[in-house]
Amino acid sequence: MAKIKTKYICTKCGYETSKWLGKCPDCGGFSTFEEEVEAPSSGRNHISTERAVKPQGLSSIKPLEDERTSTGMPELDRVLGGGIVQGSLVLVGGDPGIGKSTLLLQICSKLGSSGKKVLYVSGEESPQQIKLRADRLGVTTDMLSILSETNFNIIEAVVAAEKPDLVIIDSVQTMYIEEIPSAPGSVTQVRETTSRIMHIGKKSNISVIIVGHVTKEGAIAGPRMLEHMVDTVLYFEGEKRASYRILRAVKNRFGSTNEIGVFEMREKGLAEIDNPSEFMLTGRAEDVPGSVVTCSMEGTRPLLIEVQSLVSYTSFGIPRRMATGMDYNRVVLLIAVLEKRANIQLASYDVYVNLTGGIRIAEPSLDAAVLLAIASAHTGRAVDKGLIAFGEVGLTGELRAVAMAQKRVSEAAKLGFTSCILPRANLKEVSQIKGIKAIGAGSVEELLHLAGVV
Ligand code: TYD
Ligand code: MG
Repeated sequence: MAKIKTKYICTKCGYETSKWLGKCPDCGGFSTFEEEVEAPSSGRNHISTERAVKPQGLSSIKPLEDERTSTGMPELDRVLGGGIVQGSLVLVGGDPGIGKSTLLLQICSKLGSSGKKVLYVSGEESPQQIKLRADRLGVTTDMLSILSETNFNIIEAVVAAEKPDLVIIDSVQTMYIEEIPSAPGSVTQVRETTSRIMHIGKKSNISVIIVGHVTKEGAIAGPRMLEHMVDTVLYFEGEKRASYRILRAVKNRFGSTNEIGVFEMREKGLAEIDNPSEFMLTGRAEDVPGSVVTCSMEGTRPLLIEVQSLVSYTSFGIPRRMATGMDYNRVVLLIAVLEKRANIQLASYDVYVNLTGGIRIAEPSLDAAVLLAIASAHTGRAVDKGLIAFGEVGLTGELRAVAMAQKRVSEAAKLGFTSCILPRANLKEVSQIKGIKAIGAGSVEELLHLAGVV
């Protein structure tokens, strides 16, 4: 009999070793190693010599019909790149309780009514619980079947018998394969289950959506191991306390990864937000120092957001810097630019920067607004409530051009903003836009003067 082999895998980065280690030499994580028992070989790896495998010439390969099905939720379709591609494997990740099951149950309705047979496999809820939720969400379709099961062998048999067009596995962490001795949710189980799901999906051209809970470290259990296997990875994020949720594509073999979808969790499930800019700015305090609106591009979509800053005097030796929703190092760098290029000294002040609504943005065009917000909070002069600003700030204090300036300015004009400070190099592109005054700035100093904060 073959000897059972064990190895240890870092749950954070996937590093493998033959011995257990306290600290991962690759990612530096502590206590991240988990034992993995190698699955008994199914003999798939031995290719008989009689069945010669030949590569295909590129020109002789028939292109796959890009058959997409709309989910009935334009926000979700956008993130998927235009709907679910038949035969694809989608991973939806997110914190427990964020609304993954709700979202997936909601799309069943529409898919069912467009003639797709859907199998919803839940390892977390009983059919009665799902029925209760479906009733609340108004999901009524004869094309939807529910299976409460965690044994993957049974699920596989049901899928083979039912031949659905779409299978939803909620969640991958509850599923287990009997032959593997590790517990459900362990790296081995999660990886093997996903790999078997992938084979079924690709072989029978069934689309599969798997749900993956994010562990407290912020990664889907066995994160890298799942991400490389699936076609599309979507993260569902948002603050538990706030009602809105953002769906973000992190990987997409069938579309762009920059797109986001915005939803709001209501009593009767998730509602789509068609105008997220307006939504993000609700409740904004006007004419208060330290508040500046900017326009960020999320994929092809402009999004207006409010940057807030608070600058307060500190008698401690080392002042605090805090960034919520954006890169901490970027804030530190912008403070240095302010000190050096605009002579605003912040060494004895704590500086806090926050993007309201709990959104996270990693786009350099944010720089101008962050810089303005800090300066405005420091000098106590509010910027005009009808003004937006965007642009990347360079280390020499220059304001650098950003992409898609036109879309950003149009969005601001649409929402009633009356003026916009932007990098001078972008000025030409936006000259046609009506209803908003575009002002070009070449440097940080100019930016601060034009906004009236110094
Ligand atoms: P759920 O979809 O079960 O989360 P996940 O599958 O990601 O773990 O969402 C659960 C939360 O959503 C729960 O806290 C209640 C809330 N909720 C609503 O506010 N309205 C609704 O209509 C539903 C179904 C859930
Ligand atoms: Mg759930």
